[in-house]
Amino acid sequence: MLFKQQAWLRQKLLVLGSLAVGSLLYLVARVGSLDRLQPICPIEGRFGGARGQAEFPLRALQFKRGLLHEFRKGNTSKEQVRLHDLVQQLPKAIIIGVRKGGTRALLEMLNLHPAVVKASQEIHFFDNDENYAKGIEWYRKKMPFSYPQQITIEKSPAYFITEEVPERIYKMNSSIKLLIIVREPTTRAISDYTQVLEGKERKNKTYYKFEKLAIDSNTCEVNTKYKAVRTSIYTKHLERWLKYFPIEQFHIVDGDRLITEPLPELQLVEKFLNLPPRISQYNLYFNATRGFYCLRFNIIFNKCLAGSKGRIHPEVDPSVITKLRKFFHPFNQKFYQITGRTLNWP
Ligand code: A3P
Repeated sequence: MLFKQQAWLRQKLLVLGSLAVGSLLYLVARVGSLDRLQPICPIEGRFGGARGQAEFPLRALQFKRGLLHEFRKGNTSKEQVRLHDLVQQLPKAIIIGVRKGGTRALLEMLNLHPAVVKASQEIHFFDNDENYAKGIEWYRKKMPFSYPQQITIEKSPAYFITEEVPERIYKMNSSIKLLIIVREPTTRAISDYTQVLEGKERKNKTYYKFEKLAIDSNTCEVNTKYKAVRTSIYTKHLERWLKYFPIEQFHIVDGDRLITEPLPELQLVEKFLNLPPRISQYNLYFNATRGFYCLRFNIIFNKCLAGSKGRIHPEVDPSVITKLRKFFHPFNQKFYQITGRTLNWP
């Protein structure tokens, strides 16, 4: 009988002990998250205010991994939105293209900056008639929550090549900043092809070889009807945009350099966006397994881009590559001339 009572007591004590430890852990976690929810704007003073510069990037990044993350998951209340003065802002800058230029890498890397908040998904508001018909409020509601002092950036690479987009963006904001990330045109075309090829293979479909698509078999000339070729004629697309926006509103990012040496490219973008330089070498580390730079937000959180970024390209007949490079050459020269940025493409 006594033995039974002792066992019962021991079991009770164990349950009570577990409850106490659990509550303590919960409290610690709660205090941690409350700390993140302090109603101070981490980027106050960013544009000339008095807040200590040394502490701000880390605090802001904690904010981005904490509260903003909760918002994205839908775990925050309207009260918290109000308390923190959080808003869904229209983008102040858009990465308009170019597809396979490194648009995702650019967006994710800019998001390392405490003053930048990215729209995670491609919204396709300006290039999709159905979405566009839903109106600007629909677009704004697709944007992430941010502090008013932060800037929102979205990327939809189809914008660059879609006829109606420049006028539509102009109507929303005629002084918006536009980012275009380009890669050597032939490499970009092959990357574009590789993405489509992978999609076909996933559906167990066969597909043409790149050479067959890129070269017109009747004339043996470059096939300008092939979309991957057309997209790489950057100057043609840019000229349409220049009917609405002055060249000063564009910034050209060298997508090939963003792969091998991302920091200087990001620093140029920070300058263009009038942001204080905050992205540093600490935020970027080369991952030998991936063969690409990955992102480091802080000692705990880092990430590489998904495996769909950085595919192995199929081998292409060197004579086709030469033909394509010769074809793109005059367009590239014009592109350098218009943009004032010379990229050493062959
Ligand atoms: P490949 O898959 O041809 O290598 P986008 O995001 O516009 O679709 O561009 C995809 C390209 O981004 C990839 O093309 C890859 O080369 C490039 N890229 C640039 N920086 C990268 C990074 N840090 N990690 C992965 N891919 C990166």
